[in-house]
Amino acid sequence: MSVDHRIFAPAKINLFLHVGGRGPDGYHALQSLVAFAGVGDWVEADPRMDAVTLEVTGPQRNAIGEDAENLVLRAAKVLRDYLPARSRTGIGAALRLEKILPVASGIGGGSSDAAAALLLLNQLWNLRLTPKDLEPIALNLGSDVPVCLRRRPQWMSGRGEQLADGPQLPPFWYVLVNPGMPVPTGEVFARLQARRGAEPVLAPKGFPDASALVDWLVGLNNDLEEPARAIAPQIGSVLNAIAQTHGCLLARMSGSGGTCFGLFAEAEAAQEAASLVERLEMGWWVRAAPQYNESGPDLKRPG
Ligand code: C5P
Repeated sequence: MSVDHRIFAPAKINLFLHVGGRGPDGYHALQSLVAFAGVGDWVEADPRMDAVTLEVTGPQRNAIGEDAENLVLRAAKVLRDYLPARSRTGIGAALRLEKILPVASGIGGGSSDAAAALLLLNQLWNLRLTPKDLEPIALNLGSDVPVCLRRRPQWMSGRGEQLADGPQLPPFWYVLVNPGMPVPTGEVFARLQARRGAEPVLAPKGFPDASALVDWLVGLNNDLEEPARAIAPQIGSVLNAIAQTHGCLLARMSGSGGTCFGLFAEAEAAQEAASLVERLEMGWWVRAAPQYNESGPDLKRPG
């Protein structure tokens, strides 16, 4: 079997995110429909003697804090411990992370990188861990890491560890916009006041088109939007800018922010909206990207 040395780490989008009570472990119960976008980071790994190293490249490399960097390295180190002690000698990896997604921005950049590193090194080191084996390892690295192992639409509940295949999503496009200010997840949860609760949300099995998906999503919410806007008021301007573009069906924040997304039925409208928002605010990070599905034809480098 051939071993891949390079893997895509797609952006994670919370199409809605409802928050319930805080458990004794300090984590809130969630209910979310998570999907992925065809824009993301890239993780590469080559065998190396003994050590695990990481080199960061790409347009967002300067924004990467020690946390995100540590998440990829920690993923590698915990996985290495799964090798029997006697075969660990001499095993290592030279990891490269091409950082394209903004850091601490609600679209799972660090989580998706860590999940990608787990998937890649499981192959490279021939560990043969199953997806079920990898999930608890992923959860230890962060609440969003398990869902990022799946890379296709998922219902997410509990702290983030309860996952089930989501409904069939129609083709659609995202416009992702980040105002450039990292928003720490813990702080957003700490400021949470109003919440919808983490009760399961009923959904159709599938949606005939993007408008039908949006008709369903408008009745739902991202409960973290309000506290995130209190920390980073620019999020309000980002949402307005996206909502005003031609063809935008819905504008919402993802995760704990500050990245917001617009949903579009057509690629052309999404690309035009992205260039318009980019011209409007030069300092914002803006990308148009299709819905991404691991089982789809789109495994290779998007765009
Ligand atoms: O799991 P992760 O390290 O990504 O979580 C970061 C912080 O976000 C946690 O320390 C916690 O304050 C908050 N959080 C939460 N409930 C969740 C997920 C995260 O309160 N389900």
